[in-house]
Amino acid sequence: MRIKKFPKDFIWGVATAAFQIEGGGRSDGKGPSIWDRFCEQPGAIADASNGLVACDHYNNWQDDIQIISDLGVNAYRMSISWPRVQPTGKGAWNSKGLDFYDRVIDALFEKNIAASVTFNHWDLPDALQQMGGWANRETVHRFVDYAQTVARRLGDRVQSFTTHNEPWVIAHLGHETGIFAPGIKHRGVATQVSHHLLLSHGLALQALRAERQTAKLGIVLNLAPMHSATESTEDKQKTKLEDGRLLRWYMDPLFKGEYPADVLDFLGSDAPQIESNDMAHIQQPLDFLGVNYYSRSVVSAADPWDVQKSGLPVTDMQWEVYPQGLTELLVRMHRDYPLPAIYITENGAAFKDKIVNGSVHDKNRVDYLQQHIRALSDAIEQGVPVEAYMVWSLMDNFEWASGYEKRFGIVHVDYETQKRVLKDSALWYREFLKQGTQLPELKTNMLNEPAVTVLGN
Ligand code: FCB
Repeated sequence: MRIKKFPKDFIWGVATAAFQIEGGGRSDGKGPSIWDRFCEQPGAIADASNGLVACDHYNNWQDDIQIISDLGVNAYRMSISWPRVQPTGKGAWNSKGLDFYDRVIDALFEKNIAASVTFNHWDLPDALQQMGGWANRETVHRFVDYAQTVARRLGDRVQSFTTHNEPWVIAHLGHETGIFAPGIKHRGVATQVSHHLLLSHGLALQALRAERQTAKLGIVLNLAPMHSATESTEDKQKTKLEDGRLLRWYMDPLFKGEYPADVLDFLGSDAPQIESNDMAHIQQPLDFLGVNYYSRSVVSAADPWDVQKSGLPVTDMQWEVYPQGLTELLVRMHRDYPLPAIYITENGAAFKDKIVNGSVHDKNRVDYLQQHIRALSDAIEQGVPVEAYMVWSLMDNFEWASGYEKRFGIVHVDYETQKRVLKDSALWYREFLKQGTQLPELKTNMLNEPAVTVLGN
């Protein structure tokens, strides 16, 4: 039976990350992160920008929290900048940095907005990178110490803590293709990094639980269904491998305590060094699993897939709009793993927004959100234990290597004046929440059949 409404206690939120919105890049003792350094490399960021000012949330946080509150959401996903609270990633803590987050968490708490706090949304202290960063096992222990310190300070007012945001992105884009910070291009390093991220996640969970942390604890993965471009054996094999590298490489250790054998085979000498007990440390019970969903991936063994081929609408990131992939992904995960509560920690779209007479009529984003919320309800109907949905993003911000060119916000930001304007998508979301989250009627047909083979897993 189709659900008509989401459960009353469902968590509805908006999401951001420290480096993408805060600015205050050199304020009050903040140390440089690997993303500050990466932005200094010529050609690294599409518009040659950086995160030094961004949305200046470091100074505008009170107004921004008022906007969040006015939207009527009951949750806000944010991250802590490690180098703001511990400039060199070890040793001295920066009290001004900790005080900043204390004030933010207090303000959210007062307004009854559940804070969902990520420790690592990519901005590792640069001083740790100088010692090898995530490739160095020592960073694992630095991270646990950092997570403990932040949790002790904020944990009494936080709904959930996430250890890492999207370890695949850190490992693969940061250390294999090198298009993200720290810009390393080495497969062996990347897999070691992924192992250390998972290990630090497991050790941090154990440390926080030993202190009887009451906030819910989890990790956030970026996931997508993988579809083979054709029925050819080559395409199908590559699809299975890519699914292994994106999804099973993280889900198997978290839920089964082992890496997938086919991916280990593929990696050969690039497989990570694993010490005894590491896998047991990684396989900790999760209170929730965060899933960031944007699109599916179509895999072709020969050439990169041309997104225009399937005839589906694409966003400004050139990502296909493929809402049914969210249902497919969640149902498959529910089939293959003993899932804890699922939080959709990111979902949203970049479009070329125009501000006209003080309004942004982003119908494409409204459609995108409605279609995905509907797809989510389909997954719930099929038994997937989804408890939260957060829109990426609260406001336009620094979109990593794309700089400020890509706008994901439901709130528009004028970077010259720092003025915020609610886009139509924000007005729609506010109304949807006000009306008690009745399933939106769709105007567009989300079930456009793609012109490519959909290969089952
Ligand atoms: C995710 C990131 C998030 C944002 C979106 C568009 O991979 O977690 O910070 O950049 O993509």
